[in-house]
Amino acid sequence: DLGRTGDELGLPVYAVGGFVRDLLLGVENLDLDLTVEGDGIFFAERFARAKGGRVRSHPAFGTAVVVLSDGSKLDVASTRLEYYESPGVLPTVERSSLRHDLYRRDFTINTLAICINSDRFGMVTDFFGGQQDIQQRTVRVLHNLSFVEDPTRVFRAIRFEQRLAFRIAPHTENLIRSALRMKVLDRVGGIRLFNELVLILNEQEPLGAVRRMAMLGLLPFIHPQLRLSPETERAMTESSRLLTWFRLLYLNDPCQQWQVYFLALCERLRDDEFQEACRRLSMPGRFVSQVFAHRHRALVMLETLQRRLKRAQDLRNSEIYDSFHGLPLEILLYLAARTKNDQVRRLVSLYITRLRHMRRELDGNALKELGLAPGPNYSRIMKRLLDARLDAEVGTAEEERTLARE
Ligand code: CTP
Repeated sequence: DLGRTGDELGLPVYAVGGFVRDLLLGVENLDLDLTVEGDGIFFAERFARAKGGRVRSHPAFGTAVVVLSDGSKLDVASTRLEYYESPGVLPTVERSSLRHDLYRRDFTINTLAICINSDRFGMVTDFFGGQQDIQQRTVRVLHNLSFVEDPTRVFRAIRFEQRLAFRIAPHTENLIRSALRMKVLDRVGGIRLFNELVLILNEQEPLGAVRRMAMLGLLPFIHPQLRLSPETERAMTESSRLLTWFRLLYLNDPCQQWQVYFLALCERLRDDEFQEACRRLSMPGRFVSQVFAHRHRALVMLETLQRRLKRAQDLRNSEIYDSFHGLPLEILLYLAARTKNDQVRRLVSLYITRLRHMRRELDGNALKELGLAPGPNYSRIMKRLLDARLDAEVGTAEEERTLARE
């Protein structure tokens, strides 16, 4: 249908970028990016009308997003049409505009275009040797100033290399090193830095990318004290194991993977350093103080639990519940990843798998029906009932009623 709209308007339309790269690699990619040689917004509007979708367009950039009724999205860009004016001559459109458009991209593997018009359907345009680099599994920039122009590409190079099991080309790696020597990342705003880090930490297995970041000397740009010590590596490996475990069990419980890895990565930072790192990444103040408070509480908790377990004290379920209640899943998983104490890890997993779901049966109305006068003691009774549930002292509503009357 896209091709047909292009045919009807007489506009050449290409699938470009990551979609084509992944197509050639046989990797699933549902993000289709199109480049239209000509007015992409016009194309997007026509296509949306034919399919019953909506268009959001950004005329200044010549881009548009089509949102179809099934929720799928399509990014449409226009090749920049360049006009060369000289006196007395009509403006002429530069012919190689697709080439120009692709030349502005980060790596050769992202510069392939596939035509989707019917007359040239499936024809690959490859100006910069992208196919060969895909075959040879190489991440390569198009020109020497690439990382200076856009320093976030350093992170992207690492992300693609690790995700696709490619290799950054030696010359490209040298360009990264010299860009970092020039401290280009200091010019990158916190939010952009943060976005790139989150993208990396949300990859399926981020440890390889973090190792590479450490090797190339990127971590100090997040915080001067940030290193990948054996301890940190261990915490990250454990995080990966726990996140896999958690996802298998609780597919539908939202859990921000990057937060678990970020905490693991920062685990050797002192409290003030941790806050500095968050600030460098422009994390929202409220979020930082929350994460900070939770991290702090989790670490104190860890100490307390370890001490009690060492004294061979048995912990009741209600105590375990009180220890962990109110901590977000991300912090709990971090706690479990960080500890070297198997018993502590078992407690966290007991809380995640069983205790956090446990409820008492009686509510306020039920207490009223028992003839108990409403008041502040209600919450005390409620807590007592939940504790009794947790500690298996009661198992039925009837037993809860008996306990409530006491
Ligand atoms: N791009 C770039 N420089 C950047 C970001 C993006 O040149 N700093 C280009 C890349 O060529 C990329 C395209 O813009 O192919 C689209 O960006 P994005 O969607 O981030 O890239 P994908 O290749 O689709 O990556 P992913 O598979 O992670 O979605």
